[in-house]
Amino acid sequence: MKWKGFLISCVLFLALVGLWVGIAQSGGTSDAVHQGPETLILNSGPMSPSLVPHWKHQEVVDGCAPCHELFPQQRGSVDALKAEGQLKKKQVMNRCLACHKQKTEAGNRTGPVRCRDCHRKELKASKP
Ligand code: HEC
Ligand code: HEC
Ligand code: HEC
Repeated sequence: MKWKGFLISCVLFLALVGLWVGIAQSGGTSDAVHQGPETLILNSGPMSPSLVPHWKHQEVVDGCAPCHELFPQQRGSVDALKAEGQLKKKQVMNRCLACHKQKTEAGNRTGPVRCRDCHRKELKASKP
């Protein structure tokens, strides 16, 4: 019957729209954002360079601001702002540490506070 075929088409169409909207919305939330490089290396003066698992933070941190309110979303911006005196030495590091410590105290999953867990001997200084 034509009528039955029409009904089935309608149901299929609505299901597809629903799926599409669902995918679009899940892509818009904060989980699995993945922008910029997966991992970053920040020069750290006399210390070994530090490792920033960038994508991982985009998944576990609420938005970009906790880091990017201090420096723009641009490779080399931390070095440039430090050179201009707009960021103090260790200012970014203190932001990293503050969050890791706060979450440790709250009993949540968090990042390292020991020097060598961020400052990695095996990393070479990055030249942006
Ligand atoms: C844990 C801290 C942190 C968080 C959270 C974070 N970023 Fe970043 N991001 C960095 C650092 C560090 C750099 C590199 C800065 C530098 O090289 O001086 C960077 C650089 C970038 C760059 C530049 C990449 C390039 O190749 O020039 C983009 C784009 C970027 N971030 C996007 C984002 C977006 C979008 C979010 C939020 C969804 C975000 N970041 C969250 C730390 C972070
Ligand atoms: C959570 C990661 C992390 C931990 C843990 C950490 N650092 Fe850092 N440190 C950084 C980052 C990122 C930078 C570069 C950005 C900045 O200077 O704020 C840095 C920069 C530095 C600098 C260079 C500042 C300059 O420009 O001269 C020194 C010195 C330093 N750290 C010492 C230490 C010592 C000592 C410890 C352990 C007590 C430590 N850090 C633990 C992430 C970390
Ligand atoms: C607002 C909170 C917050 C800020 C700011 C932050 N982190 Fe983290 N970091 C986390 C959390 C949460 C984890 C635990 C992720 C996980 O294992 O699920 C983490 C994990 C890490 C890890 C370990 C990743 C692994 O695979 O074990 C490193 C290294 C790290 N952070 C470095 C940094 C550095 C360097 C900065 C500053 C540039 C920084 N973090 C800023 C919350 C933060």
